[in-house]
Amino acid sequence: MRATLFFTVGLGALALIAAPAALADNGGFAPVTPESPNAERIRDTWLFVSIFILAIFVLVEVLLVTFIWRYRRQRRQRFDDGAQFHGATSLELMWTVAPVVILFLIGGFVFYKLPGIADVPSASAGGDERLEVRVTGRQFSWQYEYPNGVVAIDTLRAPAGVPVRLEVTAPEEDVIHSWWIPALGGKIDAIPGITTETWFEAERPGVYDGQCAELCGLEHAQMLASVEVLPPEEFDAWLAEREADRVAVELGAEEWEGVCAKCHGLGGEGGIAPLIAGSPILTDPEALAELVRNGRGEMPAVGSDWTDEQIQALVAYLRESPPSGS
Ligand code: CUA
Repeated sequence: MRATLFFTVGLGALALIAAPAALADNGGFAPVTPESPNAERIRDTWLFVSIFILAIFVLVEVLLVTFIWRYRRQRRQRFDDGAQFHGATSLELMWTVAPVVILFLIGGFVFYKLPGIADVPSASAGGDERLEVRVTGRQFSWQYEYPNGVVAIDTLRAPAGVPVRLEVTAPEEDVIHSWWIPALGGKIDAIPGITTETWFEAERPGVYDGQCAELCGLEHAQMLASVEVLPPEEFDAWLAEREADRVAVELGAEEWEGVCAKCHGLGGEGGIAPLIAGSPILTDPEALAELVRNGRGEMPAVGSDWTDEQIQALVAYLRESPPSGS
């Protein structure tokens, strides 16, 4: 009787725990809908492994409950041994062979899917185009550099239907970050002084959000990233526009929000770093360059590799929209 009671209460508690997750977007358990071939392969692998996990979970739990019930003490004295069983060759063979087979199946499936996840498709596979972007993670922003020298912060724009190869790294003096846009593939670490690579090819225009996936300091949670996939013509137009206007106010705004504001606050009101609204440095290109390239005191060199144009873009933005201080 008590066993039944425990069982019922336990099941009820499990249901309560699972309910919010089940009500969430996609059940809360499954990976997000893949939007890139490599993300699709990761999801397939997840599903394949999940089948075994689920089957084994059900098998083990059913056996557990059955055995508890069937071999319960009943009227036997508390310290009397139960019936003893010895040997069951076919059973023993089964529970040895089955896991080996399952491991081989899972291993085989993963190795079959892996090349399509890790390897960047060759340029010819996706038409003759391929875009290469250098991604630099630093405390606490993502910087993207396009082949023509255009720079963007935090939001990576990319053309739909074109393979995008990402060279991911972090400055020598920084820490490890991790690039991860779940809908567009697996995560890849941004390691100081080392270049790793990953890729995606999104068919559908849209904004795909992600997050730095390696604890990298106080503002790690603010280190968001997103990929905005645009129809190819729109992307080309954007890239050409940014190339023509190297000190674009739009770039300055990205730098302010992505690099400065994460620590100093959107209005420059201060946060984990001091108040900077109203500081004359903000509109003095030379002083600003010195500060972001070299850091000062607790402030790291957040723009150690910034070009003069990047500095000018930030100044242009801050002259146009000075931080309010609140
Ligand atoms: Cu960068 Cu967490």
